Amino acid sequence: MIQPLTLGSRTFPVNIIQGPLAGISNAPFRLLTWRYSQPAYTCTEMISCKTIIHQSDMLRERFGYLDPQEGPVCFQLSANNATELSEAVKRVTNAGAALIDLNCGCPVKKIRSKGAGSSLLSDSTKLYQLVHAMKQSTHLPVSVKIRVQQANEEVAAAISDAGADVLVVHGRHWTEHYETPCRHHDIQYFVERMNIPVIGNGDIADVKTLQKMFATGCAGVMIGRAGVGQPWLIAKLIAELKNESFTLPDAQEICAALLEHVSRLAILLKNEKFAILQARKFAKYYARHLANRAAFIEAVNTCHDLPSFTTICQQYIAGV
Ligand SMILES: Cc1cc2nc3c(=O)[nH]c(=O)nc-3n(C[C@H](O)[C@H](O)[C@H](O)COP(=O)(O)O)c2cc1C
Repeated sequence: MIQPLTLGSRTFPVNIIQGPLAGISNAPFRLLTWRYSQPAYTCTEMISCKTIIHQSDMLRERFGYLDPQEGPVCFQLSANNATELSEAVKRVTNAGAALIDLNCGCPVKKIRSKGAGSSLLSDSTKLYQLVHAMKQSTHLPVSVKIRVQQANEEVAAAISDAGADVLVVHGRHWTEHYETPCRHHDIQYFVERMNIPVIGNGDIADVKTLQKMFATGCAGVMIGRAGVGQPWLIAKLIAELKNESFTLPDAQEICAALLEHVSRLAILLKNEKFAILQARKFAKYYARHLANRAAFIEAVNTCHDLPSFTTICQQYIAGV
C-alpha cells in the first residue's frame, strides 16, 4: 500500500499527501507536517488566480510563502478563466511549486457563483479548457481535485483529455457536509476509469480508514482534517501499515509543536492577536492526546498574547 507515487515527471517516495485546508495549510502547518511525517507533498490552501496576478506581494506573504525548510508543496488555484489561470500557473511555477492543482470542489457560494470551485464539475467544456491551459503553462505535474457527483463520466473525460497528471477525488458531493460519509464506491469509479493516478480523499483518520481508502485501488491517499494538530499522523500511519513501532510525542513535545506553530504564524501573519486566535482554534486538536485536555484548552482560551500563551504551555508541561 505504501509505495512511491509517480505523478507526471516527478516521483515521490511515499503515496500519502497532506491536503489543502483553507485558513490552516499555510507554511507553519506544512513545515511541521513535513518535519514529523515527510508526506509525498503538502498543499497550500486554495488561492485565487486573481490574488496571485494582482497582489504582487502574495507569493512572499501569507498564502504563497514557502519556508526553506519545508518539503514539496502543491499550490492549489481557483480559477474560472483560462488566460488568468495560465498566468497564475507560470507565476507559481517560478515561485517554487512542486505541483499545481485546480480546485474543482469548493462548495462556497461566492466561489461557485464566479464559475469556479465545484461549479466546474457541471461545465466540462470549461474544465477541459482550464486544465489544458495549465498543461500548456508549466512543466510541473498538473493535478485536479474534485468532489463526486452524478455526471462523473463527463468530468473524468474532460480531465483525462486535457492531460492532467493526477486526479484527487474527495468522495462527497459538493452539497454534502462532513456528517455524510465519504463515498468510496465513487472514488473506485474514477480509479477504474482514469488512465492517470487517482488519489482518494475523505474520512481518513487511522489505519482502518486508510486501508478502506486503499481498497478502492487508488494510487495514493490524501489526509484532510485529521492532520490538524497531529503533524506526526502520516508518519504514524506509515509506520503502522509497515508493522513498525511508532511512539507518539509526549506532552512536552506536543506543547512545543503547538507553540512553534503559533509563533511561526505570528511571524507569517505579522499579527500576534490573529495568531493567538488561531492558537485557540488549534489547541483542541493538539490536545487530543493530552491529559487534563479540557483544562489546557480553557487556559489557552483565556490568553491574549504570545508570552501568556507560552507561559500556559510551560505551566502545563511542568504540571504533567
Ligand atoms: C477547514 C477546511 C478547509 C478546507 N479547505 C480546502 C481548500 O482550500 N481546498 C480544497 O481543495 N479542499 C479544502 N478542504 C477539503 C479538504 O481538503 C478535504 O477534501 C476534506 O476535508 C475531506 O477530507 P477529510 O475527510 O480527510 O477531512 C477543506 C476542508 C476543511 C475542513
